[in-house]
Formats: sequence, C-alpha cells, structure tokens
Amino acid sequence: MAAIESVLKENRVFEPSEDFKAHANVSGMEGYNALCEKANQDYEGFWGELAQELITWKKPFTQVLDESRAPFYKWFADGVLNISYNSIDRHLADKANKTAIIYEKDDGSSENITYQQLYERVCRFANGLKSLGVQKGDRVVIYMPMVPDAVVAMQACARIGAIHSVVFGGFSSGAVKDRVQDAAAKVIVTANESVRGGKNTPLKATVDEALKDGDCTSVEKVVVFKRTATEVPFTEGRDIWWDDLIAGQAAECEPEWVDAEHPLFILYTSGSTGKPKGVQHSTGGYLLGAMVSMKWVFDYKPDDVYWCTADVGWITGHTYIAYGPLAVGATQVVFEGVPTYPDAGRFWQAIEKHKVTTFYTAPTAIRSLIKLGADLPKQYDLSSLRLLGTVGEPINPEAWMWYYEVVGGGRCPIVDTWWQTETGSNMIAPLPGAVAIKPGSCTLPLPGIMVDIVDESGASVDQSNGGFLVISRPFPSLLRTIWNDDARFQATYFPEELGGKLYLAGDSAHRDEKGYVWIMGRIDDVLNVSGHRLGTMEIESALVANPLVAEAAVVGKPHDVKGEAVVAFVILKGDRPEGEDAKRIAQELKTWVAHEIGKIAQPDDIRFGDNLPKTRSGKIMRRLLRTLAKGEEITTDTSTLENPQVLDQLKHSV
Ligand code: WT7
Repeated sequence: MAAIESVLKENRVFEPSEDFKAHANVSGMEGYNALCEKANQDYEGFWGELAQELITWKKPFTQVLDESRAPFYKWFADGVLNISYNSIDRHLADKANKTAIIYEKDDGSSENITYQQLYERVCRFANGLKSLGVQKGDRVVIYMPMVPDAVVAMQACARIGAIHSVVFGGFSSGAVKDRVQDAAAKVIVTANESVRGGKNTPLKATVDEALKDGDCTSVEKVVVFKRTATEVPFTEGRDIWWDDLIAGQAAECEPEWVDAEHPLFILYTSGSTGKPKGVQHSTGGYLLGAMVSMKWVFDYKPDDVYWCTADVGWITGHTYIAYGPLAVGATQVVFEGVPTYPDAGRFWQAIEKHKVTTFYTAPTAIRSLIKLGADLPKQYDLSSLRLLGTVGEPINPEAWMWYYEVVGGGRCPIVDTWWQTETGSNMIAPLPGAVAIKPGSCTLPLPGIMVDIVDESGASVDQSNGGFLVISRPFPSLLRTIWNDDARFQATYFPEELGGKLYLAGDSAHRDEKGYVWIMGRIDDVLNVSGHRLGTMEIESALVANPLVAEAAVVGKPHDVKGEAVVAFVILKGDRPEGEDAKRIAQELKTWVAHEIGKIAQPDDIRFGDNLPKTRSGKIMRRLLRTLAKGEEITTDTSTLENPQVLDQLKHSV
C-alpha cells in the first residue's frame, strides 16, 4: 500500500532533453501525436505501411487485418515471410561482420558472435533439427541456460517453421513435463548444466525426470548442449549431443517460407486456473510489434550496444533478445549470469566493459541492487548509457529516481514498458524523445495501441476513476489463441461481460489528467513475484498434491525487493502442527513446491490452521487471508464467517 500511495502522490515530470529529442527516432510530442493521428484516421493503413517498411516479405500481403472471425484476428494473412531470414540473412549484405551477440559469460569472460557466424550457427542447427525429422509445425521444447545457443535454437526452429516452446531453466521437472505434454513436443533441446553465479545446476537430469515412466510419449529426441564438462547419462537412441548433431551439417539452410499467421512459438504463462496457458504467437504480426517497439521505445540506432537482462524463458527474452534486436540488426549483450555475482556491481561493470548504450531490466533487480550496493554504480564509467528501461511490474518512485540519477546520471530517459506475454511487445511506454516521463507511470500507449480503462460493463471510466485496463482494437502482436484451447482464449481475453470485443489485460489501472496510465495491480489471482507471473491456484494445486496436505490457499503480501511474496495457508490432513514439527513440515512443503513448479514459486511464509476462513456456503474468504498475510488486524465484519476462531491461528507464520 505504501508503494501505491507514493505513486499516487508522485508529481515529478522529466521532459526529454533537447539533445535526446534532436536525435530521437520519434521527436517531440508533435512526432508522437502525428503517429497517433495517422493510426486514428486509417488504422489498417498505419499498420500496413509499417509492415511493408520494416519487414522483408517473400510475398507481400494484400490484406492488412481480417476481423471476420473476431476475436480470432488475422494480420497480413496472405503475406509470406520467415522471421529468421528477417533477423539474420537480410543483414548479411552490409553487416556480416557486425557483432550480433556479445556473450557475457557467468565467469566474466566474453565472446563476440558476428551476424555471419550467427547465420552459420543457426543454419547448422536448423539442418540438425531437420535431420531428426523436425518439420514445419512440429513443436520443440527449449530448456536451456542463458547462452547464445538458446537464441540459436529458437532462431533455428523459426527458420524451419517449427514452433518453439521455451521453458525457463528455473522450472522443475513437473513444469517441463506439463508443457511438453500440452504441446506434444517432438524434440527437447537442453544442456547438461547451466552455470549461474558460479554454481552449476543440472538441466538434462531434470528433463530425464520429466520423461521418466514414459510420461511424454510425443518426445522422440533430446538434444544436449555441452555447457560444462560434467558427464550426464544418455538414453540410447533418444539423446544426442548438440555438437554431434551439427557435425557435418551445411552452414546454409533455405528458410521455410511461412504465412504471416503461422505460429512462431508457444509460451506458457500463469492465469487464474491451476493450468498454465500456452500463449500462441504469430510470425508476421509478432515481428512487427518487436521491430516497431525497438525503433520507437528503445529508439534503436545502428551504433547502439543494447542489453536486455531478461532470460529467454520469458516473453521479454523472446521479443527483446531472440527476435527484436536481431531483426533491427543490433549489437546486443546476452548475459548468462546473475546481477549479484561476483558482486552487486556486475551489471555496472559489464555496462562499462561493453559500452552499453541501452539497458533494459526489471524493478526487482534494481531494488535488490540498491539494497546490496547503492553506491556501486559510481565506481564504474557508465557514460556510454543513453537510455534505460524497466519491465515486469510497477516501479516504485524511489527505485526509479535511483535508477535515473545514479545509473543514468540524470541524462538517460527511462522507458517504463507495460506489456504482457499475451501482447507480445510493448503496449504502453514513453517514446523517449517525445513523451515526458513520470516516476512510476508507464505513461502513454504506443501509437496504434488503443488503450482504455473500463468498468464491469465495458464502459470507459471517468478520468479520475480506476478500472480494468483493456485494448479496444486488435493489434498485430496480440496472441492468436491459447494452444489447443480457443474457448479459453475467448473467455479469458474477450469476455462477453465486456461486450466480447475488448482485450482484457487482467490489470487494473487509472489515468491522470494528462492521460498517463498508472498500473495498480492484477484483477485476477495472479501474483507478481520478482517480475515473474505466478498463479495462486497453480501453487495451491502443487501444495494439495502433497500427501500431508488437505487444503491450501495462497495469497501475496508486499515485499520490498520482490514486489510480492508468496504466503501459503495450509491445512494438513492430520493435526495442526506446532513448534519444531511445524517448522520441519513447512520446510518440507517449500521444497515440495520448488520441486513441483520451481524455486520461484516457493512460499516465503507458511501458516497452519485447523481450517481456512470460510463463509457458511464454504467459500474461502481470501480478502481476510490477504489482510492476515500482511500482518494487519482484521477490522472488517467477519460475521458471515463460519469459523472465526481460525483467524487467530493463521496470524502466525511458522
Ligand atoms: C504482467 C504481465 C511484459 C514482460 C514481463 C512480464 C505486469 C508488466 C509492467 C509495468 C506495471 C507491469 C502487469 C502485467 N507488468 N510490465 N511496466 N508496470 N506492471 O510479462 O509475465 O506476462 O506479466 O506484468 O501486471 O499484466 P508477464
């Protein structure tokens, strides 16, 4: 609540400097307004021209937007392209020797990969995948560390028209299994181990566990990248080393030309039910969103050194590492490590070393670095920086000011980018040479993105009121459906209650007198822990799968570094545990959740009771649980409660 209140009182405004404005891709509010005006007057013409200008088409499209099966919108549907061609091949004529990727390894050493070298690596691996029988439309799960080869694997899939599904390397075998099964993946690409913060973590062993007992019948091959010297057991006939797969493969591979609507990838994300949703993205519209935002929001210039610190396991790593920067021909840093190793100066040291100009990270990382070493940026030369970005959650103004002054030297605009796995690319963010910035606000929608804030009936709310954040016109990079679940797609994102035509983002927001958007939080049972999206139901399902647990309810509580922390209220099948017993079982349950989903979902705080607070009709009163989680007194009426005595028990964390 403290964070929200300080945001509401925030009134500092930072105009773009004359210098920044003079060189920006979109300059001044005149520039921004002109683009918005164009989009308002001729929406399809606006997007159609951008798609022609920015994308290299094998066969041009004749229709921009097809709304005949709304909300299953199609963009540029008869256009034919390949996104790997757009990311790499088209740069070879004049940028073959330009560095595409600076691989900043965990141990502090680095390696440069040119566009020519990237081309060859992608082609070899694409040919390797083909040799395994992977064809257009087949699904490939990628469960990799943050090495350039993860990008190579994604680009190789795209090159041959295979659909990748990247699973974050921090997820457990249970999560890998669910995703492999849902997408019926034919091949898994993994590594023997990942290396982060000086520590090796097994990945191949986790894949083995996901595949044991013949649980994933679709999987024919597992390709294993050798990141460390550690030997791993191989299953005869199924497993193959990456190096053996590419040995002897040609360094050229004709791209598979696909329709603009061909699915590029599936990426699972949490929603309000227990089962993660396979967000399915297109090729053409997705690429356009990535490129337009690189140009407008990141103000991309050919001599930039761009660094997005995300992992390719998340949408940010897809759009702003694997595709966007390559599509515009940028030089980018791909970082394998963690922000705090060898110390909390790692980011600043790497910015100095590679002369990074554009740096994009998450508020949670900024907060933890302030905590561990607020003065460390001063020890490095950060003068190469010209633009900073944040993503994943609202940034509190204190962290924003530190980022602006201490990291950016008061000279770099901060682009606070609001978007989602589902939107594919930035939706609300300042165009840094045009829009004045305010700490804590993602400011104004990108030109062509029709954002509104509405009430329960879908009607726009007055300026001063908060409401549901929606996008009222389809846009190119919007998800196309949920993999294998059109009905869930329609019900979740285009609900009938709002008229069936508005894209419901799942966030609440309000606008100030200048039309600036301030994100207030989620409207569903989704938590945002360190910028990672977690469904409370997902964690509850994991907990009740434990033989000791009868019932569980999960809520979030504010946390000064993570944004939100997971609190689990647990009812055991046996007696309510106390003392040492309670401690031991709580630890067991934490480990259990880490094993079922991943460490990121592990509850911070576990509380045991004889029951959960329920109404007489048996409904769990989550509102009360949220109050208890925060350690606040319950002052509201509890007379509808069946069992008020449990509230006392649930006050205490173990
Ligand atoms: C949710 C989407 C977009 C890539 C990372 C997260 C929250 C995201 C911001 C921001 C306030 C933000 C929203 C959104 N969120 N960016 N700049 N300000 N909130 O993607 O995992 O799909 O999560 O993250 O709640 O709905 P995601």
